[in-house]
Amino acid sequence: MKEWLKSNKKVTRVIKDVAELANYLWQRGWAERNAGNISYNLSGMIGEEFSQMEDYPIFNLDRSYDALKNGYFFVTGTGKRMRDLARSPMKNACILKLTGEGNKYHIISRNKKNLYDFRPTSELPTHLSIHEQLVLNKSENRAVVHTHPNELVALTQIKEFTDEARINHVLWGMHPESVVFVPRGLALVPYTLPGTENIARETLKRLSDSDVIMWEKHGTFAVGVDVLDAFDKIDILSKSAQIFFMVRQAGYTPEGLSDEQIIELKKKFHSEY
Ligand code: 13P
Ligand code: ZN
Repeated sequence: MKEWLKSNKKVTRVIKDVAELANYLWQRGWAERNAGNISYNLSGMIGEEFSQMEDYPIFNLDRSYDALKNGYFFVTGTGKRMRDLARSPMKNACILKLTGEGNKYHIISRNKKNLYDFRPTSELPTHLSIHEQLVLNKSENRAVVHTHPNELVALTQIKEFTDEARINHVLWGMHPESVVFVPRGLALVPYTLPGTENIARETLKRLSDSDVIMWEKHGTFAVGVDVLDAFDKIDILSKSAQIFFMVRQAGYTPEGLSDEQIIELKKKFHSEY
């Protein structure tokens, strides 16, 4: 696997990006213990070299992902720490190949002898559901990032900000960049048990009309052309939430941008508004 990775520059680049991102997430304090998970659609970056699958362990999925049949994915492992992923990505993540039926997968970066109870993230249903939708939409986005950004999660602990219009108005109002780079805003998914098909379904419903999906009282999901692009969207909204709390902690009420100023920014930077 080591030799094969060395020869595949595209996959090596993805893994380097993931390690860099894992370090950021840890440095920001968004990655307590095993918090967060990352995936990337590698389909088209890997040739015919993994067609004999007998040596590789096989696992069932709870449903089939028809648009992802025979697809390859880089996926972080369940229970793994971001700070460990940053140092040793291939020990804390894996490469999966979905079968021709799309309802099972092989872990191709480990053979049966060195599996060591490794399993992909418990949020695999949400990651794969998002990837399937991205493929169906012919999206250029291949990366999916889930993390626990403190200030954004804290906002969803405040009743008035469980109203989507209000939370977006506050976030956009704290910094013009948030309107420029996150124009469709944050979608709120009411608290749902993590690691389930149910939360995957609820998340998917909001993929097409938002830039960042917030699982109330838990964390965020974002997609991007690469993992750093996905991270940027969360980071920008997180900055807005930080400014909000900073002003509040100083004993003031943040003024925010007006509706007119927010609309003016959307019109200048996004032709569809
Ligand atoms: P995993 O360790 O299974 O990836 O779970 C982390 C997490 O953030 C769950 O939502
Ligand atoms: Zn989580």
